[in-house]
Amino acid sequence: MTDEARPLVVLTGASGGIGRAVALRLASEGYDLFCAFHSREPQIRNLQSEILSLGARCDTFKCDLTQSSSVHDIITRVSYLLEDPQVQLRGLVNCAALLLGPSFETATEKSFDNYVAVNVRAPFFLTQQLVPLMPPGSSVVNFSSAGAHFSSPGDIVYSMSKAALESMTFHSAEALARKGIRINAVIPGFTDNGHELFSDPVVREHMESHAVLGDVSSPETVAEAVIFLISQRSSRTTGTTLDVSGGSTLGYRHAKERISLRQKLM
Ligand SMILES: NC(=O)c1ccc[n+]([C@@H]2O[C@H](COP(=O)([O-])OP(=O)(O)OC[C@H]3O[C@@H](n4cnc5c(N)ncnc54)[C@H](OP(=O)(O)O)[C@@H]3O)[C@@H](O)[C@H]2O)c1
Repeated sequence: MTDEARPLVVLTGASGGIGRAVALRLASEGYDLFCAFHSREPQIRNLQSEILSLGARCDTFKCDLTQSSSVHDIITRVSYLLEDPQVQLRGLVNCAALLLGPSFETATEKSFDNYVAVNVRAPFFLTQQLVPLMPPGSSVVNFSSAGAHFSSPGDIVYSMSKAALESMTFHSAEALARKGIRINAVIPGFTDNGHELFSDPVVREHMESHAVLGDVSSPETVAEAVIFLISQRSSRTTGTTLDVSGGSTLGYRHAKERISLRQKLM
């Protein structure tokens, strides 16, 4: 590594709504990006050209994190990039996920395994194998969800996977601290990732009803928290979570339903 080495961040889920905002924010802060994606090629090409126009470098990598070989392939590719002494790995953002679903009634062993593979196994082994390539002062950020903090039988496997990721964040912090590396998680609530459901007024009202602060989040707000946790501005923060859910973890929606039920019964 030389004094001029450029900081590199590995970001999974870069083709998603939040991943895109995180990538652009990192690029604008002077980080180069290794952007992993699964299926949305046009989105990743678009993102890549925006990152390049911000003066950052951007490698892209197509992978399927339901397959453990994909984690190995990412490590191989990143190790190759690090052969350049001008490149220094400073962070990992585990943003990729299979989103909401399956329910308690409909989950199958296959769907369960896929959710756990993408949402828990991949972040765990990417962290385990990329951390040895990072210098002290680097940082890992995981993506949890407010759904891990309220009863979600309809999305039980997703919610369980996010609870496991928070647990990993907590339990791995001590091991990473020995290498001078921090690990934290963000907790978004409903965040407008561009999915058409966010334009449906009925669905949107339901989403907004979870947050004490009202509304849904923007990907940029979530990205701001990620940048804080990746950067040295959070140099004394590890093993914890940063809630950016607008207070969706406070049980507000359920409390409102209880109050309206009580009023009906009176
Ligand atoms: N949006 C919300 O309301 C919300 C709320 C709480 C937490 N979160 C969390 O925020 C993070 C980003 O979510 P988002 O809203 O940006 O979702 P999104 O737009 O659906 O993006 C999901 C990302 O994960 C990637 N991915 C999915 N399956 C994959 C696989 N098998 N292998 C590799 N990559 C795969 C997708 O790749 P392709 O698109 O290329 O297939 C995409 O880049 C997730 O961890 C999510 O759980 C989101």
